[in-house]
Amino acid sequence: MKPATLLIVANWKMNPQSIRTAKKLFKDIQDKTKRTRFVDVSIAAPFVYLSEIQSLRSGKYMHIAAQDVHSEKMGTFTGEISVPMLKSLGAEHVIIGHSERRSMGESDDLVNKKINSCLKENITPILCVGERKRDGSGHYFSFVEKQLRAAYSGITRAKVEKIIIAYEPVWAISKGDGKGKTATAGDAHEMKLFIQKTLSDIYERNFVRKVQILYGGSVNEKNAEVLLKEGEVDGFLVGGVSLRADEFSHIVKIAESYVAA
Ligand code: PGA
Repeated sequence: MKPATLLIVANWKMNPQSIRTAKKLFKDIQDKTKRTRFVDVSIAAPFVYLSEIQSLRSGKYMHIAAQDVHSEKMGTFTGEISVPMLKSLGAEHVIIGHSERRSMGESDDLVNKKINSCLKENITPILCVGERKRDGSGHYFSFVEKQLRAAYSGITRAKVEKIIIAYEPVWAISKGDGKGKTATAGDAHEMKLFIQKTLSDIYERNFVRKVQILYGGSVNEKNAEVLLKEGEVDGFLVGGVSLRADEFSHIVKIAESYVAA
């Protein structure tokens, strides 16, 4: 079934290089997507830009996200940022467990702690899961299942729908230009069903029906439509292309027309 709304998250990663460029990119995206009704757009900018871009926000469909957060609320953690700090800036989403952070040592256990901190403060975590590689024997399913089970450990069924999932196969994530090897719509759809099944096994179907499952990994203007139509994903996590206002806005428009049709 077609979702009533979609979510498209721009993961700017460690870009752009100045607040001036960040503000311009945000404004350009906002201007070019002005009449959006069926798509929520969330800009996951570096921490240092969040406050300024938040003040530029005009449309209700535009949201602000962080790319990571510390698991504790406050304390002696030099250089870290907490959930309450993000909340006080108006951030609504936090990406948790992105593969680039996992490859810097973030464990499943830490991912679980971060999700719990977000849920306690009512900020929506976007949990990233995805296998590093694929082989013919389907090991990637058990890999993703393990990530999911660890991430949801101790989370009650009442909270399940408050977590957004982004399926991002690591082999599909681009080097920063959005031009990597994309998963097929079939791959994305199959994994969406698998994620739903895994969560249903833990919580029962009723509690997981509304969980939004996004796809990420080299999403661009050419593959967005088929990923929505045939992949049946609930939106995207877009890296490289989100740094190019024209192309990113085009993806938002493709999603808007898909829901509106
Ligand atoms: P990409 O990045 O769109 O450049 O592949 C996606 C991501 O890492 O979130």
